[in-house]
Amino acid sequence: MKILVTYDMFREGYAALERRYDVTFPDKRDFSYEEVSAMIADYDILCPMFNFPVDRALIDRAPKLKLIANYAVGYNNIDVAYALEKGITVANTPDPVIAPTANLALGLMIDAARRISECDRKLRKQKERMKISVLENMGVQITGQTLGIFGMGRIGKALCKRARACGMDVIYHNRSRIDLEEETRLGVVYVSFDELLAQSDFLSLNAPYTEETHHIVDEIALSRMKPSAILINTARGPLVDEYALINALKEKTILGAGLDVFEFGDHPLPGLLELDNVVMTPHIGTQTVAARLDMAHDVCRNVIGFIEGDRPVSRVLRP
Ligand code: GLV
Repeated sequence: MKILVTYDMFREGYAALERRYDVTFPDKRDFSYEEVSAMIADYDILCPMFNFPVDRALIDRAPKLKLIANYAVGYNNIDVAYALEKGITVANTPDPVIAPTANLALGLMIDAARRISECDRKLRKQKERMKISVLENMGVQITGQTLGIFGMGRIGKALCKRARACGMDVIYHNRSRIDLEEETRLGVVYVSFDELLAQSDFLSLNAPYTEETHHIVDEIALSRMKPSAILINTARGPLVDEYALINALKEKTILGAGLDVFEFGDHPLPGLLELDNVVMTPHIGTQTVAARLDMAHDVCRNVIGFIEGDRPVSRVLRP
């Protein structure tokens, strides 16, 4: 079995693969799409990073390809429908992603609400000792507020538990309602998407990016949110119409935002950089050493499980 890994990160995490099979890695960089395209015909297994496009054209150049083992929980970088049609298995790494992403979402909520990064910037800019007005730097209370979660999957549920621990009420909207026992255990209320927009003090996006979720938060959705609301996105950038968000933040249609992902790659539009009521991080949801190593181990488990049939594979069963 020949395995092609498109990135060079935590190589030690792939020792189990390297011991068993013929594995190709780039050296201290990522392989480009063109490089992978030129090599893929020889490989049985492809291990891409979440920002590496595995599209129809690439799959068509890969007659031997049997498995695409994504380094991510999200798989919107892969044409899953086409891969499955071609009989290629697609796998992902959901478990290690849950806690760090939920932690970052909570961090962005608290930062945006209490203006932590904004105050930090202010302090650094001040040459003299600050004369602090007691009315300056007023933030938003988190305890007692309502968090709306769009997408009550594993990360949504983990964020829900953290928010409940902070004394928040939690409502959610999901493609399908979770079972009543779990709702009761989590202490959450299911609402329609319109109610979610109208009632949330914080709205966190935790759904996968699909045709249905493209621009789920657009100009109309933003206009239905409370003027005091804070939008959090740690899922995928194109869930939000970023131009509409910039207008909403400028015109105070909503109060603020915390974003780890952006509509156009991993960089915010310049308009966002000018605003103080947005906190941004460059897609670092899983960027801890422990999470990234665990993700590497899960990629290995998926690959070995697929080849040997001796351990579970986290298969993506539909696009
Ligand atoms: C990260 O964005 C992931 O999908 O795992």
